[in-house]
Amino acid sequence: MNRPAVELRHISHRYGSFLALDDVSLSVRAGQVYGLLGPNGAGKTTLLRILSTLLRPTSGSAWVLGLDVQAEPEAVRHRIGVLTAGSGLYDRLTPRETLRYFLRLHGLSRRDAEDRAAAALARFGLESFADRPCASLSTGQRQRVLLARALAHDPEVLILDEPTSGLDVVAARGIHALVAEARACGRAVLLSSHDMLEVELLCDTVGILDGGRLRAEGSVAELRQRSGRDKLAEVFLHYLETTA
Ligand SMILES: Nc1ncnc2c1ncn2[C@@H]1O[C@H](COP(=O)(O)OP(=O)(O)O)[C@@H](O)[C@H]1O
Ligand SMILES: [Mg+2]
Repeated sequence: MNRPAVELRHISHRYGSFLALDDVSLSVRAGQVYGLLGPNGAGKTTLLRILSTLLRPTSGSAWVLGLDVQAEPEAVRHRIGVLTAGSGLYDRLTPRETLRYFLRLHGLSRRDAEDRAAAALARFGLESFADRPCASLSTGQRQRVLLARALAHDPEVLILDEPTSGLDVVAARGIHALVAEARACGRAVLLSSHDMLEVELLCDTVGILDGGRLRAEGSVAELRQRSGRDKLAEVFLHYLETTA
């Protein structure tokens, strides 16, 4: 019936002669969380950057909400929320100013941006530090601001590159709650992680990416069953070792 919110078909990407992604196809439906699980260098960031319109693939096609990311990058950008590994905050701006600025970039009027920023500060639990410069925030607080910035314009598709990397358990749990809420609201979420436990907690479907190739795909329960392993770390290693 309706198309998936996110579709990648036969995506390959080369950096010079190095093949970072090799014929990857996957899709994510609305209300679904898809976790890209893979070791460092697997190609996770490359894939998420292609989908975020930040990088053109060497070959293949990708669509977000039926929009071709290569043909209509501007339209795609307004409908996705992106948290990339290297996302930075302007240290001199406060979280409130950061959100206002980004909402303005998404085309909201000054007044609407002001209102939406205030709503986002409340919704994402940023009120207690809303008016402090970002430079003074903890790592966990900064990550919440980045995530709020990615979500403030209410995008239908979320692309989150290692959203909890470097966070303590409490901060990570806060991010997990936001992902779960987005899913409950019918958003499509594509996130990357190298943490099997996190992926089991959050994701409906997991794709194991290694050496630029999608080695296995399914729910964690299915991957566990197919591998005949029980411990999550072993399940993960099974797919890296047996198909490489
Ligand atoms: N700009 C680049 N130029 C050359 N090689 C790159 C570049 N970006 C990434 N790579 C290489 O591509 C591979 C995949 O990288 P990346 O997508 O960042 O993986 P991951 O996010 O899974 O760690 C790695 O081997 C990395 O060294
Ligand atoms: Mg990465």
